[in-house]
Amino acid sequence: MNLIATCFVLGLAGGGEGARILGLFPIPGKSHLSVTSPLMHALAKKGHDVTVFVPFHTGFNASNYREITYDSIPLDKHGNIMDYLNMNIFLAHIFLYYMGTLTTEMALNTTGAQALIKSEEKFDIIVMEQFFNEAFLAYVHKFKCPFVLISAFGPTATINGIFGNSAPYSYVPSEFLPFGDRMTFFERLENTIANLYFDGSRKYYYMPQQQALANKYLSDTGKEVPSLEEIESQADLILLNSHHIFSTPRPYMENMKNVAGMHLKPSKPLPLDLQQYMNSSKNGVILFSLGSAMQSILMPDDKIKALKGAFERLPYDVLWKWENDTMENKPKNVRIGKWLPQSDILTHPNLKLFITHGGISSLMETVYHEVPIVGIPLFGDQRRNIKIAESKGYADYVDILTLTENQVYNAVMNVATNPKYRDNVKKVSAYWKGEMNHPLDVAVHWVEYVLKNGGAKLLKATVTEQNFIQYFLLDVGFAILLLLILTCILIRKTFRLLCRKSRPKMTSKKNN
Ligand SMILES: *[C@@H]1O[C@H](CO)[C@@H](O)[C@H](O)[C@H]1NC(C)=O
Ligand SMILES: *[C@@H]1O[C@H](CO)[C@@H](O)[C@H](O)[C@H]1NC(C)=O
Ligand SMILES: *[C@@H]1O[C@H](CO)[C@@H](O)[C@H](O)[C@H]1NC(C)=O
Ligand SMILES: *[C@@H]1O[C@H](CO)[C@@H](O)[C@H](O)[C@H]1NC(C)=O
Repeated sequence: MNLIATCFVLGLAGGGEGARILGLFPIPGKSHLSVTSPLMHALAKKGHDVTVFVPFHTGFNASNYREITYDSIPLDKHGNIMDYLNMNIFLAHIFLYYMGTLTTEMALNTTGAQALIKSEEKFDIIVMEQFFNEAFLAYVHKFKCPFVLISAFGPTATINGIFGNSAPYSYVPSEFLPFGDRMTFFERLENTIANLYFDGSRKYYYMPQQQALANKYLSDTGKEVPSLEEIESQADLILLNSHHIFSTPRPYMENMKNVAGMHLKPSKPLPLDLQQYMNSSKNGVILFSLGSAMQSILMPDDKIKALKGAFERLPYDVLWKWENDTMENKPKNVRIGKWLPQSDILTHPNLKLFITHGGISSLMETVYHEVPIVGIPLFGDQRRNIKIAESKGYADYVDILTLTENQVYNAVMNVATNPKYRDNVKKVSAYWKGEMNHPLDVAVHWVEYVLKNGGAKLLKATVTEQNFIQYFLLDVGFAILLLLILTCILIRKTFRLLCRKSRPKMTSKKNN
């Protein structure tokens, strides 16, 4: 925590050249903005002239910081996301494509987006989120400046593709699969098929939709926007919200930087009533929250009933992020709050454990504050995040699809009473903190590196310039094969020649 405070002060004192920075973060999800906006705020604090395109105001004000917002409909208002719990990853990806196209069009069909594409402004660098919003790459083409991508997750198949990063399917599990790095035959099979499917469906099904949006809304000259994939491959660098303790060790290109935890802040004192509540709990408090984006009131009724039943039996108090003023049949030991200062609650010594959906930012806060976990993941990367936490010994995994009252009760009692969970999270936390420069400082450094050098040519592997034949060495393989065949033929010919020459001698011997 001290480390963070110090870094903020250093950041403020550092000053800057005052470069003009454009940030493009159109995804209408709080969990995304909570990763990207700390970086943009930090760059403004360093004196850069920052303009960001965001779905709603982030609550930061400065004279050198401007927000272009649009009338966004938050992701969770597009129907109940809980209805998709059963969805397999193949359909879930189609759903993501659908949401991506929908929200991208919503963001582009606005006066802010239109004014920006016609604007005469100049920018020195663009920082853009890599998610389902690729039409925004047209701004990179328009402003013709270096650009840095940023991801709210770790390296996905798409990101590996953009940067030409090797991620062998044999030991690098997809972010969307709940696998570790020791995969069984069937897990490797699923990992391979899933990765090939992600790549193929993106290229042939999804990207043409984004290209059409770019052509429709962002063609300031009336001409078509160049291939978005072409623009994307020019990315100088990517900042990733990941770290190997939340993932698995794997290869990274020089221009892929892990900056997990940019959103971590020094904790603030809790509001007085919460302080009193936490202080006075006799046996300790359990926090239950599905994060800022997911609403627990939307969970299926039978799941809510099971959770209430389990909580009622606990000897602990339960603080539940519940997005309504009232809760039917609320157990006596449950206190509800529509909004809870999660990060600050996590620092309270009377907190026993956190029941979380395992969103990566929540998980980082939890590990940072050394709190053990009961994980009830819902989708996306959450299942994998909790699986990895479980393998590191600081979490119990409860499957939302088969969740019962007893399961929840047993998992909570187990994690709350077995000291192994807290010991392990302390170990992981110490390991992470021990090796981290503050990630926000690292991220600011790399953005300024690209600014200073007008790109990141020295970090960029030439793999993105190679074609399929060169990358897989098909030409070299063919040449070697040819050489082998020629050698064989030559050896055979020579052998035959020698045999023929020696044959008469043998026959003459026989004749003797
Ligand atoms: C930022 O400015 C807006 C309007 O100018 C104001 O309503 C808001 O309270 C300010 N926020 C902060 C954190 O100062
Ligand atoms: C774009 O915005 C205009 C004006 O707000 C609206 O009439 C139109 O339906 C929108 N188009 C799409 C495809 O959302
Ligand atoms: C809660 O406990 C802490 C530490 O014991 C103390 O500093 C704080 O004042 C207490 N808060 C309230 C509202 O009692
Ligand atoms: C909040 O609870 C009340 C009373 O149970 C209910 O009528 C209302 O529909 C709930 N609101 C939401 C958004 O679920």
